[in-house]
Amino acid sequence: MIEKHGHGGDRMTANERFGAPAKGWLDYSANINPLGPPKSLYSLLRQEWKQLQHYPDPRCRELVAAIASKYGLPEVSILPGNGAAECIDLVVRAFQPRRAALIEPTFSEYQEALHKSGVEMIFIPTRPEDHFLPNIEELKSVAQQVDLIFLGHPNNPVGNLLPVEALQQLMKVAEASDTLVVMDEAFLDFLPNERQLSWMNRASKSQQLIVLRSMTKFYAIPGLRLGFAVAHPESIEKLRRLQVPWSVNHLAQRAGILALSQDAYEEETRILIQVEREWLSEQLEHRGLKPFPSVVNFLLVHRGNYSWESSKLQARMATQGVLIRCCDTFRGLEKEYFRMAIRGRKENERFLEALDSALERIITGEAHHA
Ligand SMILES: Cc1ncc(COP(=O)(O)O)c(C=O)c1O
Repeated sequence: MIEKHGHGGDRMTANERFGAPAKGWLDYSANINPLGPPKSLYSLLRQEWKQLQHYPDPRCRELVAAIASKYGLPEVSILPGNGAAECIDLVVRAFQPRRAALIEPTFSEYQEALHKSGVEMIFIPTRPEDHFLPNIEELKSVAQQVDLIFLGHPNNPVGNLLPVEALQQLMKVAEASDTLVVMDEAFLDFLPNERQLSWMNRASKSQQLIVLRSMTKFYAIPGLRLGFAVAHPESIEKLRRLQVPWSVNHLAQRAGILALSQDAYEEETRILIQVEREWLSEQLEHRGLKPFPSVVNFLLVHRGNYSWESSKLQARMATQGVLIRCCDTFRGLEKEYFRMAIRGRKENERFLEALDSALERIITGEAHHA
C-alpha cells in the first residue's frame, strides 16, 4: 500500500514500495485535473520567481479580490490558505468543538484534525446500497448532538452529493441547535452547475456555515498548495488569528489569480471529465467491477465478484507504472474498494490495459496456487 501517510498521490512512497518506473507514474491515486495547470501558468511562474526575494502579501489582497469578483462574494468573507488542508486544520483549532460528527466514509483529514485537538467524534455510517449517502433523519439528529459537522460536498472518496433539500433541512437544524456545518467543496468546481450548487454565498452571511474550497485539484497545482475558506466575517477573523503569517506564498497567490480567469480551460475540463467518467464507468462495468455513481473526477470502485484485496491490485498495476488508491484507510470501507481518478482518453486506455493485465495475472496466479 502506498497510503502509509494517509493519502493517494504519494509518489515517493510508491517509489520506495514498488521502484520508480522509467517513464514516471501514471497517477490515478490522486484526483487532479488531467489537463494539467492552465498553459499560461508556466510563463507566469517564469516571471514571478524573481519576486521570491520579497515576502508575499500577508493578506493575499489581489487573490481575495479575484475570488470575490469571480464568485460574487464580499472580500471580508474570504480567507486564502495553504491548500484546503490548512483551512480544515484552522477551523478545528479556531472553533474548538467538544464533539463533532463525520460521515463514514469521508476524507481522512477531518478526522485527523479533530483527533489532534482531542475532539470527541460521532461517526454517521452509510451503506453501499444507499450509494453511501447518509440517512437525513439520522444526520439531523446527530447534528443536534454535536458542535460541528464536516460534510464533503461532494464527498471524497465516493464523489456523491447530498440532495439540496437534505442540506436545507440540515442547515435549519444547525441554526436551531447552534451547530457549525463545515462544507468541503474541494471538488465542486468539476461540476458544470457548481454555481447553483455552491453554498459559498450562504456561508458568507451565516455564523453556522463555513465552506472550504481547494484550488489544487481543479487547477492541477497540488504542489503549489492553494485553497480558501468562505465564512461570516467574524468567523474569518477567528480563523485568521490562528493562521501562520505568509502561509500562502507569492507564487501560489499569483497562480490563483491567473487560474480564476481561465473560463475556456474550466469549460474544457468539465466536458472532458463528464465524457470520460461515463466511458470509464462503462468500461469498468464490462470487466465485472462496480463503480459507484460519481459527479466528479474520480470513481469509487468495488471489486464485484473478484476476491482480491485492493492492495494486491495496486501492487500488480504498479508494476506497469499505474497507481490506484486503496480505500481501506478510509474508515467505513474495506479492502474490496479502490478509488481512481478520471483522466484523458489516451491515459484512460493505458489505465485499462494495465488493469486488464493486472486482473489476468491475479486470476492466473490465483488459479496456479489453488
Ligand atoms: C475532500 C478534500 N478536501 C480537501 C483536500 C485538501 O486539498 P488541498 O490540496 O487544497 O489542501 C482534499 C485533498 O485530497 C480532499 O480530498
